[in-house]
Amino acid sequence: MIDNVSEKLIVTGGTTLRGESFVSGSKNASLPIIAATLLANGRHKLSNVPLLSDVNGFATLLTTLGLSVSHAKNRVLTVTNNHDGTPTQCHAPYDIVSRMRASILVLGPLLASRGTAKVSLPGGCTIGARPVDLHLKALQLMGATISINHGYIEGSVDGKLHGANIDFDKVTVTGTANILMAATLATGTTTIRNAAMEPEIVDLCHALLNMGASISGIGSNTLVITGVESLSSAEYSIMPDRIEAGTLLCAVTATGGDVIVHNCPISTLNTVIHKLQAMGAEIYADNSHIGSVHVIAKKRLQAVDVDTNPYPGMPTDMQAQLMTLLAISDGTSIVTENIFENRFMHVPELNRMGAHIHANETTAFITGVETLYGAPVKATDLRASASLLIAGLCAQGTTEIHDIYHLDRGYEKFEDKLIALGAKITRQS
Ligand code: UD1
Repeated sequence: MIDNVSEKLIVTGGTTLRGESFVSGSKNASLPIIAATLLANGRHKLSNVPLLSDVNGFATLLTTLGLSVSHAKNRVLTVTNNHDGTPTQCHAPYDIVSRMRASILVLGPLLASRGTAKVSLPGGCTIGARPVDLHLKALQLMGATISINHGYIEGSVDGKLHGANIDFDKVTVTGTANILMAATLATGTTTIRNAAMEPEIVDLCHALLNMGASISGIGSNTLVITGVESLSSAEYSIMPDRIEAGTLLCAVTATGGDVIVHNCPISTLNTVIHKLQAMGAEIYADNSHIGSVHVIAKKRLQAVDVDTNPYPGMPTDMQAQLMTLLAISDGTSIVTENIFENRFMHVPELNRMGAHIHANETTAFITGVETLYGAPVKATDLRASASLLIAGLCAQGTTEIHDIYHLDRGYEKFEDKLIALGAKITRQS
């Protein structure tokens, strides 16, 4: 699946980004919606699905589960599900799940549509332990029998899943998606309290409605799902990626640039836009749901504090990129990471570029410096790779970013978009 492990980006810093750009379809919305195609037979047509290695990985997983998937250059992903519902081909193997944690999203749909599932336990990853206990407890409340054997979650249902009252102890995005999908085909009504309100969950709800599901409370923290006998195939267009949009705004801001970013999911970006404005960037956006955002960053940025939280709070997926901006801001800032316990892997790399950041498990103290300096650095995860790329764009000299395959998991043609705005970036193997 990963064929670019040895590739690195060479970034020559100091260019001001200018021009116009656009945002691709959302990775974090695409993966659960692709998983939802397990729930209904027929030919599903999903558009605006970004061309990313994580999407390829998910397509491979669905193929393993007996579906056929094609993803065209025009970003239309077609899934044909002719599975007869028998408990065969319900095995999500370790080698796929260990590379892509989102694979756990097939658990709920498999139990709901085939009554059985064997999915590798995802295990931890560089940003934290990332357990799935809340998914499993909720599925048990819905009537599934779950056991863990030899590193696999094995689940089965006698008949159909049934509706239940689920009250999540913590806000879990993937957990909410898994239970939401499972509940669409369960008998009776499922209420999910303390549900994730992330825009990608809203997008999944709309895709499920398009397939014939009955869901109310969409966008709130209480979702009520009344199970239906069967769903029909989906024809749905995925929302634009709010994290890609936020990352682009940070990249422009870091270089003191002037860019209009089109196809932004503006209504989901308020927290990020307000934070960048507080730092001194001028940002102009209209009130539309999806539209263009104009960012102009002429002045030295000012230090601000950042706390990550579930939506509508600051996304944990924007923490690393904002930290790069704070590293070159005037003053001291504190970044508090409230979602993951180990999401500061970019800190030592930014410090190698001249940043002054001191971090413990969940809090980083940043003293802004005038400039960063190019250095060889290593990307450790998807958003860390974006933060290092932004650092390279505004640093003096040349930055070599190793392990850049992380970036390709979640940003479609990102370096090409930056190059089109004037960035000097080359890819080497
Ligand atoms: C999380 C982020 C999501 C981000 C994604 C990738 C939140 C709430 N979630 O989603 O915005 O896009 O990472 O960076 O911001 N947890 C448990 N037990 C479970 C499930 C989760 O304890 O069964 C804990 C996790 O360890 C974590 C928190 O709950 O501390 C949120 O996890 P969850 O939302 O499920 O993670 P992702 O879906 O990966």
